Amino acid sequence: MKVFIALITAFVFFSCAENKIEPALIPLDNFDTELAGEKIGLYNLTNSKGMVVQITNYGARVVALWVPDKNGDFKDVVMGFESIKEYFESSDLYHGPIVGRYGNRINKGQFTLNDSIYQLSINDGPNHLHGGAGGWESKVWNAEKISVDGNEALKLSYFSKDGEEGYPGNLKIDVTYIVTGNNELTIKYKAQTDAPTIINPTSHCYFNLSGTTKNTILSHILKIDGDKFTPTDEGLIPTGELSLVAQTPLDFRTERPIGDSIDEDYEPLKFGLGYDHNYVLNKNIGEYKEAAVIQSPESGIKMTVITDQPGLQFYSGNFMDGTITGKRGDLNHYRSGFALEAQNFPDAPNHADFPSAVLLPNEEYNQVTSYLFSVTN
Ligand code: GAL
Repeated sequence: MKVFIALITAFVFFSCAENKIEPALIPLDNFDTELAGEKIGLYNLTNSKGMVVQITNYGARVVALWVPDKNGDFKDVVMGFESIKEYFESSDLYHGPIVGRYGNRINKGQFTLNDSIYQLSINDGPNHLHGGAGGWESKVWNAEKISVDGNEALKLSYFSKDGEEGYPGNLKIDVTYIVTGNNELTIKYKAQTDAPTIINPTSHCYFNLSGTTKNTILSHILKIDGDKFTPTDEGLIPTGELSLVAQTPLDFRTERPIGDSIDEDYEPLKFGLGYDHNYVLNKNIGEYKEAAVIQSPESGIKMTVITDQPGLQFYSGNFMDGTITGKRGDLNHYRSGFALEAQNFPDAPNHADFPSAVLLPNEEYNQVTSYLFSVTN
């Protein structure tokens, strides 16, 4: 009898295990190429629970991120492409890269530092966005697989020359992606400059926690720990004020679906064409703290964003228009992906009362941001 029960148990166990959906990894050689003599590749980071993150050194970019859903099936929760050729050709540059030197917008691409006026390249209407048209998302980074506290990690380094896209100072940046044992993707940034400059790098993944863009992100349930946001003009440049989210459609202090009030008649939503706002996180300067929690009711996958940054840009995929075909044939349907970008405030170099984005020689820039994955039922 005991043998019979053991056999049945083993049968049930193995048949369940067999039916689980495992990560379908992109072959590494789909990214094997060179750009201006620099080698591009794809790197896999994994942990003992089977979470896998695929990263290319082209733009220090997350290409795929597989985590288990509520049934134990693995889902890829970021948008992107299956080959390097598609990244080269995409009209949307911002699938998963580290954007910089300054993520988000700078008014007319101008700022003053130590009495000198700097003019950055213009690539978003009259403004500078995500480091310019030749920003870090288009650069080949040096890649080195390392181990951090026993976890698999990829250290990516880039040397941003003085004058690149108009920025002053030679800047060396290291970004290390770490996949921890508790299904966390931690991103550590470190930078130094040889002349005063400004810096605000951020990770720019488009997530859909249901695992497919066939579902929009409007049913995702979001909570952001921010009492205030930085209102903008219609070009999404901050006015300099900090406004309360209370009694506005921007209030996510209590969890609720993104789609609840996204189309309300409210000026900041009109300017963003939906959510495209920087939240002022409730915290002390430099405090490493939970900033947002978001979950997909379809998959039960929950993502917690933890950061030491003062701001969090929530973008609800308002510019997605169904014209780009990504992995598994998924289209970039309108609002089928969201970004939660931990950062300094947009246009901070032009607002003395925003947190400073200045980096001086002999200082070190540091940032830590984590995306922690778990499930709810
Ligand atoms: C976001 C930004 C949006 C849009 C997007 C790229 O970070 O807030 O306005 O530019 O990147 O599609």
